[in-house]
Amino acid sequence: MTNQTGGGTKPALIERDRSHLIHPLHNSLHQAGGHVWVKGEGAVLTEADGKEYLDGLAGLWNVFAGHGRQELVSAAARQMETLAYCSGYAGSSNPRAIELAERLAGLTYPSINRFFFTSGGGESTETAFKIARYYWKLKGHPEKTKVISRQWGYHGVTLAAMSATGIASYWPMFEPRVPGFIHIPSPYPYRYQASAGVSPGLAAADELEKAILKEGAETVAMFLAEPVQGAGGVIVPPDDYFPRIRQICDKYSVLFVSDEVITGFGRTGKMFGLEHWGVEPDLICFAKAITSGYFPFGGVGINDQVAQVFEAADKIWMHAYTYSAHPVGCAVALAMLDCIEREDFVGQARDKGKLLLRTLKQALGGHPQVGEVRGLGLMCAIEYVKNKATKEEFSPEEKVGARVHAAAQERGLFSRLRGDVFCLAPPVVISPAQIERIASIMKDATEAVLGCG
Ligand SMILES: Cc1ncc(COP(=O)(O)O)c(C=O)c1O
Repeated sequence: MTNQTGGGTKPALIERDRSHLIHPLHNSLHQAGGHVWVKGEGAVLTEADGKEYLDGLAGLWNVFAGHGRQELVSAAARQMETLAYCSGYAGSSNPRAIELAERLAGLTYPSINRFFFTSGGGESTETAFKIARYYWKLKGHPEKTKVISRQWGYHGVTLAAMSATGIASYWPMFEPRVPGFIHIPSPYPYRYQASAGVSPGLAAADELEKAILKEGAETVAMFLAEPVQGAGGVIVPPDDYFPRIRQICDKYSVLFVSDEVITGFGRTGKMFGLEHWGVEPDLICFAKAITSGYFPFGGVGINDQVAQVFEAADKIWMHAYTYSAHPVGCAVALAMLDCIEREDFVGQARDKGKLLLRTLKQALGGHPQVGEVRGLGLMCAIEYVKNKATKEEFSPEEKVGARVHAAAQERGLFSRLRGDVFCLAPPVVISPAQIERIASIMKDATEAVLGCG
């Protein structure tokens, strides 16, 4: 079948792709089994050969509103026609950026009221590091530069962001990592081992205190954490984890930076992730759902205390991206905020997330190789294990996750993995019938690879 863009058949496109494209997280030798996507509608993606797939990860966790949303397209087109680009540097602004910052001040955590815009998550992470360093310099503590983050955290892969990312497979090709980045264990309820009688959430949070004391509080600038760890395998912390983290950050004067690149704007069933635990960060990083992937966009929000210190300094903020406060990105973000409010995306994510988790648990919870089915809002994961009783993992050579992923694709579901953890985060417009279909595909794919148990 000819591709809808007129580019040729899927095999021909793949061959041309292999000749000239370098893909993220890939080696072109494996591109023969790749996909060429040509269309998206709601929660469905279509390939160049006409085959349809449920978009199990909403692109890369970002296409929250689903594909083919005309409001987002029109907002971009209108803005491109009026003013496709203008500088955001040194006093230049644009009405869409001003409006967006005002709206975000009303939507984000109450103390967060100032925003720096970027083109995505990694740029937001880098910006947060610079804000933290500059803040502590202004406060008279130039030696507070270190960043503590967590195992299985994902914060992007620019060099410093990669150094904060706690998934070790991203490091070896590019080491040495940037000095001064420290990882503590993740509050991974399925795997974190606390001493007997100790709350695992508090024990995992106390790992932060231990790390701060080991490094010296006078050297630690910030703690960086996703409210729910996404790419690391949808790790939902225990309820007592983040309140204790906030206390520790306050006790040792460490900025608490919430990486809401996946959790921001409703995916967990709250507008921002830490709202689940009544905790406020000092900074937030966001991207992805703010434009639903229709335009590369992100940002960092800072609290009033940090903003006051910056303002009092009366210095030029020597940090910049050509596309910071891009008017088209801001226009798409504003249209997306309209969708979120008008269609109650936050409530939909909460309710559909419950349905997804329930149907996945019903379909897979009893399988002997499914160690855990977990999630919060529209973020879920299935963790496959060799031995359910001991939680022993499969050896990487068995490629269990990859085989289940292949079997799910054959049945029309596309998503991503972390090892043997299968992640699911579909667009919020997914229908209940499509959610049931995801669960049924996952059951069939699991049984095809691992038997019925
Ligand atoms: C929590 C989190 N932070 C940061 C990033 C990096 O974003 P980007 O790929 O836009 O640089 C990601 C990407 O998946 C992410 O999930």
